[in-house]
Amino acid sequence: MSEKRVSIHGQWSSRWAFILAATGSAVGLGNIWKFPYIAGENGGSAFVLIYLFFIALVGIPVLMGEVLIGRRGRLSPAASVSAVAFEAGASSLWAGIGWLGLTAGFLVLSFYAVIAGWALSYVFVTAKGSFSGTSPEAIGDIFSALQSSPLQLIFWQSLVIGVTVFVVARGVQKGLEKTVTLLMPGMFVLLLVMVGYAMTTGSFMQGVEFLFTPDFSKLTGSGILEALGHACFTLSLASGVMIMYGAYLPDGVSIARTSIVVAFIDTLVALLAGLAIFPIVFANGIAPGEGPGLIFVSLPIAFGQMPFGTLIGTLFFVMLVFAAFTTSISLIEALVALMVEKRGISRPRSALIAGFAVWFVGLGTVMSLGVWEKVTFNSLTGLNWEFVLFNQNFFDATAFLATNLMLPLGAFLLAIFCAWVLRDQDTAQELGMSESNLAYKGWHWTMRVLAPILIVIVLLHAVGLDVLPLIGLGH
Ligand code: PHE
Repeated sequence: MSEKRVSIHGQWSSRWAFILAATGSAVGLGNIWKFPYIAGENGGSAFVLIYLFFIALVGIPVLMGEVLIGRRGRLSPAASVSAVAFEAGASSLWAGIGWLGLTAGFLVLSFYAVIAGWALSYVFVTAKGSFSGTSPEAIGDIFSALQSSPLQLIFWQSLVIGVTVFVVARGVQKGLEKTVTLLMPGMFVLLLVMVGYAMTTGSFMQGVEFLFTPDFSKLTGSGILEALGHACFTLSLASGVMIMYGAYLPDGVSIARTSIVVAFIDTLVALLAGLAIFPIVFANGIAPGEGPGLIFVSLPIAFGQMPFGTLIGTLFFVMLVFAAFTTSISLIEALVALMVEKRGISRPRSALIAGFAVWFVGLGTVMSLGVWEKVTFNSLTGLNWEFVLFNQNFFDATAFLATNLMLPLGAFLLAIFCAWVLRDQDTAQELGMSESNLAYKGWHWTMRVLAPILIVIVLLHAVGLDVLPLIGLGH
């Protein structure tokens, strides 16, 4: 743009502030809760390799695209997309990408805050020593008791959202930046302490082997798709977050280098989380493929058996809460900025309204963990529609819709938009590269061809159309 735009919301004080905030968003339950268990379910190392491949080939390019759009537009996601589309002489309908992202981010936060609430409650449960010397069944019961108590769930969910609202109300530098500057280093130190502890368990090498010795025979087609979906999820792509955080990025900072650093730290944390968790799991004779209960049941069983388990366990959940919290604030920020821009509502009031809306929709997730567990669209309407969404309860359906459908669709549209719709001269300029630069060409080609094709395959699989056998991959 001939005239540089300025964000009315303020901006990060430095490149590092952006890196902390963006990794704060990227690093979360996805890294510490989800990555280890899906790696565990998919045989470990082969999955890890494929996942790294997708981070490099899809994650980083799309991340760069989002930051670029944000910094050029300097507004909330839909308005930023619309501004850069206008510059390219393209239809303002492209703003739909921004709206899609905002909606996906809203839905993700609605259930994310509930799960972050589990983690928060586990800080206290663990600190009380509830796991030490407790039988595995009783530890399983502690988790089920939490799931089936709406009041407890609502209490913790409200606390997470309340603090999120408080931080975001204080603004970009005083709220978000200050929080990530405190919590992210804290989280990282705690993670290193955990890895250090894992080294003393005697099963560290078993964990290393599990994560790093590739066994491709264990990799299935759906494992590959899960790796790609997770690469988008873990980098907070297509949820409005990275466009919004890009809008606060100072001019002159290299988007390519910064995005690579963000993706690198995010991946490092996921791997370190695996290195912290699996040795403890192995040392205590627990299976690695336990699924979603890995963190909330298997690990507590281990905490209950091992020396210093109460201390290590408490630190673990504090770390998880830090990680999840810096993600929650990122997910609400775009909604808040949007209300400030469109309606001229003050930031604190916008934060309150957004927080209330997220809290309210999150009640659906809370209820479907217990009383509404079996309530689905089909069971409510008496219809018999086949698509999985209609046979899932509120929580599963929201998670599926947002994570498996909206995020990949958004990432696909972002790639197309950046590489087919925007003018090369503009994207190159914003990335600070020349159009003939090899790195620029690589980015451009990936966004034009490779990323969209890969994402479409994942999307088709999610809606039940299986293209894997066509390209020679079974299940
Ligand atoms: N990246 C976050 C995590 O790994 C989750 C997230 C997904 C955040 C999508 C924003 C958007 O926990």
